[in-house]
Amino acid sequence: MQAKISALKQNAFNDIASAQDSNALEDCRIKWLGKKSETSQLLKGLKDVAPDQRPAVGALINDLKNEIESTINARRTEMEFEVISRQLEGEAIDVTLPGKRQGLGRVHPLTQTLDAVINIFHSLGFSVAEGPEIESEYYNFDALNIPTYHPARDMQDTFFLENGKLLRTHTSPVQIRVMENRTPPVRVIAPGRVYRNEAINARSYCLFHQVEGFYVDQKVTFAELKGVLGFFAQELFGKGTKIKLRPSYFPFTEPSLECDISCFLCHGSGCRVCKYSGWLEILGAGMIHPEVLKSAHYDPEKYQGYAFGMGIERITMLLYGINDIRLFFENDIRFLSQF
Ligand code: PHE
Repeated sequence: MQAKISALKQNAFNDIASAQDSNALEDCRIKWLGKKSETSQLLKGLKDVAPDQRPAVGALINDLKNEIESTINARRTEMEFEVISRQLEGEAIDVTLPGKRQGLGRVHPLTQTLDAVINIFHSLGFSVAEGPEIESEYYNFDALNIPTYHPARDMQDTFFLENGKLLRTHTSPVQIRVMENRTPPVRVIAPGRVYRNEAINARSYCLFHQVEGFYVDQKVTFAELKGVLGFFAQELFGKGTKIKLRPSYFPFTEPSLECDISCFLCHGSGCRVCKYSGWLEILGAGMIHPEVLKSAHYDPEKYQGYAFGMGIERITMLLYGINDIRLFFENDIRFLSQF
């Protein structure tokens, strides 16, 4: 009997140990402890055992039952533990893994140029002012001595709005707005967006940025304008950059000029960028027209001033060798990340 019990026990243990999930384990329980199990058969056979041995054999069978039961329970606990530890393993964080890098943003190339220009004029005592992008005809044209018949007023250049206003075509209206509110000396630069109703191509866009600069005081001279432009050119394009002033025409300055710089790429020997001229045009300027001073209620007998205006896109294109103005507005990260 003893041998039978221990053989049964061994079989049951092997069975339990090889159960892979809770269903298989439940099958084991039915197989080894159920009503039709060998263990139950043993109990039933107890009546055939000699009466004096019955208690001892009965105790053995009971022990067997208990042992199988506790082995099944132990295996069940083990399985649950396996499930939980597999789950935890999946959720585990390896704190020694390198972190994910956050991509660094870049400052837009136009903003970089704008900042550089502003810093240079800041160092000369200019302060920054801004004006509205939606302007009246008065500030954009009339007050700047641009007569009604001037071609710049043509529908082709200006975006007129339904309310009689327009999108400013240059930053020069800020001259009037600032002068109206201050008494000289005023030394101001005015960066901002301007709009022109032009065909869009590699060279021109419906929107671009200008920096206006002007200085009004008593005894402001053309020589001072020349000095400031020369200093600016050297600071932005490098020491040794020369400037050339060519006579020009703007209704709001007299005399008017256009300022070229010596080509910082070929240093005058001629290249594709300067179109083999050795010079690059960068801005328009002049002495503020007496009529413009009058618009701002300044006495032209008492005050003089100079003004200049430059296109930030053009300067940025020259500085970085960019050949299409539209790139500035497409926000293609492959383009922007180069600066
Ligand atoms: N406003 C002019 C333009 O848009 C530039 C300029 C500004 C010229 C100031 C002279 C003086 O082209």
